Amino acid sequence: MKKINNICCIGAGYVGGPTMSVIASQCPEIKVTVVDINQDRIDNWNDENLDNLPIYEPGLKEIVAQARNKNLFFSTEVDKAIDEAQIIFISVNTPTKTYGKGKGQAADLKFVELCARNIAKVAKDDKIVVEKSTLPVRTASAIKSILQHTGNKVNFEILSNPEFLAEGTAIEDLLNADRVLIGGDDTPSGQEAKDTLSAVYEHWLPKERILQTNVWSSELSKLVANAFLAQRVSSINTISALCEKTDANIQEISRAIGYDSRIGSKFLNASVGFGGSCFQKDILNLVYIARSYGLTEVADYWEQVIIANDYQKSRFAEHIISSLYNTISGKKIVLYGWAFKKDTNDTRESPAIAVADALLDENAEITVYDPKVTAERIYADLDYLGTRSPEDNRRLLKVSNDPIDATKEAHAVAILTEWDEFKTYDWKSIYAQMLKPAFVFDGRRLLDNEEMASIGFNYYKIGQS
Ligand code: NAI
Repeated sequence: MKKINNICCIGAGYVGGPTMSVIASQCPEIKVTVVDINQDRIDNWNDENLDNLPIYEPGLKEIVAQARNKNLFFSTEVDKAIDEAQIIFISVNTPTKTYGKGKGQAADLKFVELCARNIAKVAKDDKIVVEKSTLPVRTASAIKSILQHTGNKVNFEILSNPEFLAEGTAIEDLLNADRVLIGGDDTPSGQEAKDTLSAVYEHWLPKERILQTNVWSSELSKLVANAFLAQRVSSINTISALCEKTDANIQEISRAIGYDSRIGSKFLNASVGFGGSCFQKDILNLVYIARSYGLTEVADYWEQVIIANDYQKSRFAEHIISSLYNTISGKKIVLYGWAFKKDTNDTRESPAIAVADALLDENAEITVYDPKVTAERIYADLDYLGTRSPEDNRRLLKVSNDPIDATKEAHAVAILTEWDEFKTYDWKSIYAQMLKPAFVFDGRRLLDNEEMASIGFNYYKIGQS
């Protein structure tokens, strides 16, 4: 088995950055270089002030501080890093296609293909190429085909090693992974490559947690894992709508069904909907793949998870509008939270974007507060939708750094991210300065019904009548 002392990762994003930081911190004898074509991102990774890292994750800056410029490097010198590495992780973005065949569903693999072509061009000795990005099943054969036609007699082993970390708990998830999945060919050289990568993870994880499969199972497992997780969220969210009509309480239901060990208690929290860069994208991709094989029933089944999620977001926005007497034009509504979940600054597919967009359609005056998301990001998310002009977005929506001050003369507050700090606010003072009747729409079930009612709020908690 090859002794590894040099790893490179292409893509310094939410996966590449934290994953490689953990590998470097756990494998001091391995030089780990994370490369990206985005100069700003690399500059931020190299910033002396660790509060300026491009990604916020609890525990990340401590790990970067410990390993950076010892055996962990961030650079834009992609070719050099590829040339020197024995293992190359591809961890670039694979967004949903916005053009051509498969538009709106299939994964856009142009960034992955560019990486493969770059590796093919630069490599002078044998490499293990690892798909860390989430890729449609059978992508490895495309990568292999590109790499095998270089004519420079280099042997490439392609492995699939999908990442299961969750943003907000990435470091903890990486250090204590439930499992690491490594897919590769069943040939002797494929087996050797799987064992080589496995040995990297064995620096800190027990061998039993490292699963080896064929490459196709590994690729497909990642899509299926995300589809199952998202399906649980959509399942409980559809029941939250039923609870609101029937006086049942969604939390009591989650507890009652979660005690069944066959069901389990995790991922049963009703909310305004799931977000993040992965769930929707990966399910759409699964749906696209199933359809492309003629499996209409399979595709329709999984597509419903997305439809239910969209329903939950629009249902929440409609509830705000109808509660505020069916007119919110000119009314100040404060949104607490913009990130798709707590403890991250990632806003991709955040339910807050869809809710804000629906409220802005009705000419509401929105003020957003999020402890980690910048105003620039918030406006970029809204502008990307193209629903209205950038000028109108800035006219109707303001961003505040002061969550309490933001609520002055507001008609309503809507909680869209489960940041812990929202629970600690002095809601009495907030109530005192809001217009009456004062409404709180809790899309994350953070606050206590009785307490909020006793202060005087009209308080709505998703999943409870
Ligand atoms: P990201 O968008 O944060 O980072 C990707 C980075 O790749 C960007 O900085 C981009 O500049 C860089 N890049 C693109 N093309 C490049 C090229 N040719 N050369 C060098 N750099 C290039 O994406 P993120 O969130 O890290 O996701 C990466 C992959 O991991 C995706 O396939 C995603 O589905 C998957 N994934 C993401 C998870 C998450 O929680 N964000 C969890 C598990 C998997």
